[in-house]
Amino acid sequence: MRIPHPIPYQGSKRGIAEAILAYFPQHVTRLVEPFAGSAAVTLATAAHYRADRFWLNDLNEPLMRLWDAIIYHPEQIADAYEHLWKEQQGRERQYYDLIRDEFNRTHRPEYLLYLLARCVKASVRYNANGEFNQSPDNRRRGMHPITMRRQIMEASRLLRDKTLITALGYQSVLSDVSSNDLVYMDPPYQGVCAGRDPRYYTNINHDDLYQWLRQLNARGVPYLLSYDGRNDLRTYGRPLPADINLVRVEIYAGRSSQATLLGIKAYTVESLYLSPSLIERIGAGRIENVGNQHNQYALFELK
Ligand SMILES: C[S@@+](CC[C@H](N)C(=O)[O-])C[C@H]1O[C@@H](n2cnc3c(N)ncnc32)[C@H](O)[C@@H]1O
Repeated sequence: MRIPHPIPYQGSKRGIAEAILAYFPQHVTRLVEPFAGSAAVTLATAAHYRADRFWLNDLNEPLMRLWDAIIYHPEQIADAYEHLWKEQQGRERQYYDLIRDEFNRTHRPEYLLYLLARCVKASVRYNANGEFNQSPDNRRRGMHPITMRRQIMEASRLLRDKTLITALGYQSVLSDVSSNDLVYMDPPYQGVCAGRDPRYYTNINHDDLYQWLRQLNARGVPYLLSYDGRNDLRTYGRPLPADINLVRVEIYAGRSSQATLLGIKAYTVESLYLSPSLIERIGAGRIENVGNQHNQYALFELK
């Protein structure tokens, strides 16, 4: 199955979205993503017809304006991207800087799409004033407009008329979900050092997040949480406090490029945490079955 992915985004769950879906209940009335980013899990869910409705939220308002354009005005945003992509030809470097300045002034969605398609590792970076300051990847001209149009039209077809889009703090979303929803959360990683994370507008306070998880449990809201992971070289993220009572499964997330550079064949594994009310719905048996399919690999393997 080809799942569209119009927004290039570092940290996207694109590669493991279908493995995450394996832990969903058979039928989902509404899937809610409070930290949507490029919405990889929502797109995979829609492509497999596993949910009736969707709520996409991210604190990054220009990003959510881009989602609104993709879902509800696909022709216009595809035309605007094509225009920018063609206009850059022969002066790619200067043009990128010009569009970056324009984006910081206007927050127009087509500028953000162009910047994400052209910038280093498709990763947003903001300075202390909240301005986009990532440099261009001078080896890439950005996704070809024909491919981009196809991704946009397909994403719009899957999500149109059934998706709510907001740019709120995740807390406002969590206070508004119910036990009829399924929530998938992929918050920013816990940084190694405290302070501002240039990847996002804000850094979240993880103790607050834990409190919200406890509250969701008390309200019987089913959810999945991507939180930490590991490869041969390091573990990222602290494990969650045990009292939140989540079941942790591991998802194989591909070869570790860092390890490959060092001549070691090793794999990255991401944790996915399942809430008590989700386990109640899908049954503990499902975890064993899925686990057996996905976990048959050796974590360390020397070349
Ligand atoms: C790891 S990314 C999510 C990636 C996403 N799963 C995907 O497939 O692209 C985390 C997202 O959380 C957003 N974010 C950061 N702080 C937030 C907050 N307080 N409330 C809501 N979203 C927030 C960031 O803008 C970022 O897009």
